[in-house]
Amino acid sequence: MARLGREIAVTLDDGRRLVVRDARRRDARGVAEMLDAVASEPQVTLVLRPGEAGPASWRRRITETLRSPRGLFLVADRGGGVVVGDLGLSPDPNLASAHVVWVGMSVAAGFRGVGVGGALLETAAAWAGAAGFRKMVLGVLAENVRAQAFYARHGFEREGLRREQYDRGGRYHDEVLMARPLRRR
Ligand SMILES: CC(C)(COP(=O)(O)OP(=O)(O)OC[C@H]1O[C@@H](n2cnc3c(N)ncnc32)[C@H](O)[C@@H]1OP(=O)(O)O)[C@@H](O)C(=O)NCCC(=O)NCCS
Repeated sequence: MARLGREIAVTLDDGRRLVVRDARRRDARGVAEMLDAVASEPQVTLVLRPGEAGPASWRRRITETLRSPRGLFLVADRGGGVVVGDLGLSPDPNLASAHVVWVGMSVAAGFRGVGVGGALLETAAAWAGAAGFRKMVLGVLAENVRAQAFYARHGFEREGLRREQYDRGGRYHDEVLMARPLRRR
C-alpha cells in the first residue's frame, strides 16, 4: 500500500495555508468537482473533458491507488476537506520501465500561482525518489505553455511530441512529453 503517510503543512505565497496529504475515498467528490471545473475552463489544459469523470470514477481511482504498492494520490486540502489541488503518480505498466512513474496534476483556478502545484510536485518527487523510481514523466497539451514552464522550473525537460494524440470534442491536440530524473534519497 503506497502512502505518503503524513500531512505536510504549507504556507502559500499569498499567506493562505493548506495541507498536502494522501487522498481519502471521501475526497472523491471534491476531486471530481475541482477537475470538472478545470476541464470546463475556456483555456484547454486537460485531456479530461467536462463531465467525463464523476465522483464514482475518482473514488475507484483513489481506492486503486491506495491499494497499489507503487502509486500515490495526493490532494491539497485548504481546510475542512476542501480539495484545491490533486496529484496522481502511477508506475509505467511496462516491466522494463518499472523505474518510470507518470504524474498528473491540477490546481483549482483560485489557488494557482501561489505554490500549491510546487508543493504537490516536490512532495511527490521526494516520495518517488525514495520509493526507488528513477524517472518521473508526464504528458501536457502542447498549447498549455504555462504548465510546461512550471514543469521546466521543477526540473523537467521536453522529451518528445505526440501529434494529434487527443481528440477533445472534435479538435485534435498535440501532446508534449516531459521527464525529470529522480535521485534515491
Ligand atoms: C500547472 C499547474 C499545476 C501549476 O500549479 P500552480 O499551483 O499554479 O503552480 P505554482 O504556484 O507552484 O507555480 C506557479 C507557476 O505555474 C505556472 N502556471 C501555469 N498555469 C498557471 C495559471 N493558470 N495561473 C498561474 N500560474 C500558472 C506559471 O508558470 C507560474 O509561474 P510563475 O510563478 O513564474 O508565475 C496549475 O497552474 C494548473 O493546475 N493549471 C491548470 C491545469 C493544468 O494545466 N494542469 C496540468 C496538466 S499537465
